[in-house]
Amino acid sequence: MLNFTYYNPVRLIFGPGSLDKLRANVPAEGPILLVSGGESIRKNGVREAILGALSGIEVVEFSGVEPNPHLDTLLRGVDVARRCGAKFLLAAGGGSVIDGTKFIAATVPYTGDDPWQLVTGREKIREALPLGVVLTLPGTGSEMNDGAVVSRLNPTDKQPFRSEKLFPKFAILDPAFTLSLPWRYTANGIADAFVHVMEQYCTKDVFTPLQDRIAEGILATLVECAPMIKQNPDDLAVRGEIMWCATMALNRLVGCGVVQDWSTHLIGHALTAEAGMDHARSLAVVLPWLLRDRIQTKRGKLVQLGRRVFGVTGADASAGADASADADASAAATIEAIEAFFTGLEVPVRLDPELVTEEVLQRVLGQMSVYKKGLGENQDITPAVVERILRASLGK
Ligand code: NZQ
Ligand code: ZN
Repeated sequence: MLNFTYYNPVRLIFGPGSLDKLRANVPAEGPILLVSGGESIRKNGVREAILGALSGIEVVEFSGVEPNPHLDTLLRGVDVARRCGAKFLLAAGGGSVIDGTKFIAATVPYTGDDPWQLVTGREKIREALPLGVVLTLPGTGSEMNDGAVVSRLNPTDKQPFRSEKLFPKFAILDPAFTLSLPWRYTANGIADAFVHVMEQYCTKDVFTPLQDRIAEGILATLVECAPMIKQNPDDLAVRGEIMWCATMALNRLVGCGVVQDWSTHLIGHALTAEAGMDHARSLAVVLPWLLRDRIQTKRGKLVQLGRRVFGVTGADASAGADASADADASAAATIEAIEAFFTGLEVPVRLDPELVTEEVLQRVLGQMSVYKKGLGENQDITPAVVERILRASLGK
């Protein structure tokens, strides 16, 4: 296991009815800026419930944060927060609303000329307004981590950034708030959480048996719960499990002491920026093809995952790192099982050639050229490898 420091100060408040605890966790004096997306929290009653829980405290609202939140939209939120003198930000929504709120939190006290530099990391986030979360879409894990992803339209870009100042003070996870999700977003969230774990697990082995089992526990639970929720979308117990899995998948616990490989996410961000794909859907078209391309380095974990999570029989995991024909067959069968899992979610595992035309593909590859080093645990996922992966996903 590699050396690590684990720090996570988020107060996680889980379960049906947990909005009861909202008031005790926000400042007694407002204004509180309630940040939300489109219409979902109005339609499903979450907005009303929040306003009820905060009655008597001044609440100002900023809505309209779109999926893959845009810099321009968020700068309007910064304006509203500054004008009302917001003391606390409350995000009510999915990853986009939470990430957008984190950006607003970092930008309100920022006095420089170009807030985009807080995203690129050229300027450090020195201060941020405190924020809390009411989660309505499990998937990204943003509710319990210090990361955010913001997009810019001109020039097109989508970048992740992190700062310890951006940890939410608390996150309220009521699975009942996810009942209104259409299947597409429930499925996206499951796929996103699955890939988060994979990128902290399916890498070079440095003897991390506990970490491996935590990761496999989350993956196995997602695999078990996905068909259950598809069949019975109103099952709150299953929704709760999925919610907890998604939070655990990216609160950085799984990543302690292991070698990580976030290349699927970085390629996915470029696909979202250039082709407008949903975040999770960009990952599902990359991951299986990346695993196939990198099977040499990932074979051991794939064999282990296949045996422990998907019931793939054949090669012994302890022999997984060897290039035996058995291990190759098991690793390939595991990748097929991952694809079947995504397909069962109705999340495509191939790029759509009508969406990702040759011109779009070239723009995606152009986005990848900002990474000076190769991606992946061995820094060997060069632009040429990315091109090979994307062409394989296109069936070309
Ligand atoms: O905008 P509203 O009306 O709220 O509708 C949203 C949106 O249209 C809808 N929705 C959310 N909760 C709902 C609901 N509809 C009905 N009922 C509910 N309860 O779902 C749609 C998608 O929402 P969005 O927040 O965009 O989805 P997601 O949670 O997948 O977030 C994606 C964003 O998070 C970033 C992604 O890159 C992307 O920008 N990520 C953030 C991470 C982090 N901060 O750690 C890590 C992730 O890997 C990811 O990159
Ligand atoms: Zn993700």
